[in-house]
Amino acid sequence: MSTETEIQMLNVQIDGKWHRFPKGTRVIEACKQVGHFIPHYCYHPKLSSPGNCRMCLVEMGMPRMTPERKPILGADGKPEISWIPRPQISCAQDIAEGMGIRTDSPMVKECRNGVMEFLLINHPLDCPICDQAGECRLQEFSVEYGNGRSRFLDEKVKKPKRVELGPRVTLDDERCILCTRCIRFMREVAKDDVLGIVDRGSHSTLTCHPDRILDNNYSLNTVDICPVGALTNTDFRFKMRVWFLKETKTIDVNCGTGSNIVIGSREGKIYRITPRQNDDVNECWLPDSHRLNFKYIDREDRLREPYIRTASAESPASTAGLSGHQATTWDQALAHAVRDLQAAEGLAIIASGRMTNEELYLTRRLAAKLGAAELEILPRQGEPDGLLIAADRNPNTTGAQILKVTGETPGARLPIIASGIESGKINTLLLLGESALACGISEAALAGLRSVIVMDMLPNASTPFSHVVLPSSAFAEKRGSMVNLKSRIQRLNVAVPAPGLARDDWEILRDLLVALGDGEGLTTLEEVFRAMAADCPAFAGLTLSRIGDLGVQLDHA
Ligand code: SF4
Ligand code: SF4
Ligand code: FES
Repeated sequence: MSTETEIQMLNVQIDGKWHRFPKGTRVIEACKQVGHFIPHYCYHPKLSSPGNCRMCLVEMGMPRMTPERKPILGADGKPEISWIPRPQISCAQDIAEGMGIRTDSPMVKECRNGVMEFLLINHPLDCPICDQAGECRLQEFSVEYGNGRSRFLDEKVKKPKRVELGPRVTLDDERCILCTRCIRFMREVAKDDVLGIVDRGSHSTLTCHPDRILDNNYSLNTVDICPVGALTNTDFRFKMRVWFLKETKTIDVNCGTGSNIVIGSREGKIYRITPRQNDDVNECWLPDSHRLNFKYIDREDRLREPYIRTASAESPASTAGLSGHQATTWDQALAHAVRDLQAAEGLAIIASGRMTNEELYLTRRLAAKLGAAELEILPRQGEPDGLLIAADRNPNTTGAQILKVTGETPGARLPIIASGIESGKINTLLLLGESALACGISEAALAGLRSVIVMDMLPNASTPFSHVVLPSSAFAEKRGSMVNLKSRIQRLNVAVPAPGLARDDWEILRDLLVALGDGEGLTTLEEVFRAMAADCPAFAGLTLSRIGDLGVQLDHA
């Protein structure tokens, strides 16, 4: 059976030209697909269509029929359209065979003009101080489809300007155009019917259900989909004009879902994280807890320079928990690390499920080169939320399994490492982004090791026991790839630079490898990926650029 018969294709005329679309396509989407954008407010492709804003009005018609119900054909051999004399909304209707649509006729233009004028009657002139300015549909459509002046002479209705709907969302009531997107999102996606509209006419107001607040972990998605500046992110409010923000497409690293995100940054500082649409991963959504979890990147105690432990350190390093250590150069730190690794009589490497594939691949090569006794990652489990938060809080467990840095059960070798240290079989530990104390290794055992080499971005409870500290990068400071729990390989990208002397993790691992006589020629991340793909059948045929912005589904599983 051909695809054409499986999915019935319908003929539709849009602004005088005939096109074919699959049955079930919304009129507004069909127009968009062929480059005729229809302005809209209440319509959102992932939500139900109440058809309440009327911004998407178009002219519609159906084929003129003979008494025998056959379409009457025009001179061009195509059906003649009988146009409905009233405008129709395009967001709540599917296309039909022979349908005609006009998206820029004089009637449509007048309708849009009228809707804009109505929407602006009570709208405040807040643009200069409004967080939405620069990405506001009301602003954009006002310029595009409005008439540039108001005939309304009365006082505008005054409404509350700062209503805390919940801990993370603040409402400016005057700016709300009552599109109900936020209400529908909470009801249909977050399954938490907490928002609604009360009162009538110009006094209609968005509010929470009595005795409720908007404290759902998906509340900030309402801010994303609010087409105006009515709902604001309390954390981002008044911090930065959006046109100053550099936007970096990358992925979330708070769990194994690997939600696609955009990091908004300026001059090396992250201001906000918003979801990026990927229908195979997170659609358009992101949990609040994930998007707000970026402030640790700027923490005071970030490891900004390499350290070595000096038994007689006179001036303890300023970084918290690192007394007994002295800041040093990269050359010195790497030389110390290599010396200790080569001298190891029993080496264990604890890597992290937060590391990229490239980092994990270099780690495995390092383990092989050094003949490491044990290599494992620390599993990180939490409660799944049934939506986007996975139980596995490591973003790259699948990558670690593919690269054989861990096995079927992540963390299974940690007790072997702990007992190896206790018994003295292991005397050197390489800790990559994890705390040994969280891996079942006691302080006393850690203190007894001949060398502990730490590569991390922040100090943790086991950093004071280290002999060498190699400062590395946070997820927003590096490139690389990860594989989510559904075996989709996706890319991380650099939004902000790493602070101080901190370096990209893969470069540190590569330098260690080169100093040990391996890893020559791995001068770029692309080359590391190429070497990894040559070594690992799951990544065969891929390159970092081929992964693209939306990732690639692996078929290894
Ligand atoms: Fe201006 Fe849009 Fe803010 Fe209204 S919601 S004040 S139009 S930027
Ligand atoms: Fe629409 Fe925003 Fe008003 Fe909610 S707050 S109804 S999303 S305009
Ligand atoms: Fe169609 Fe609002 S977008 S009525």
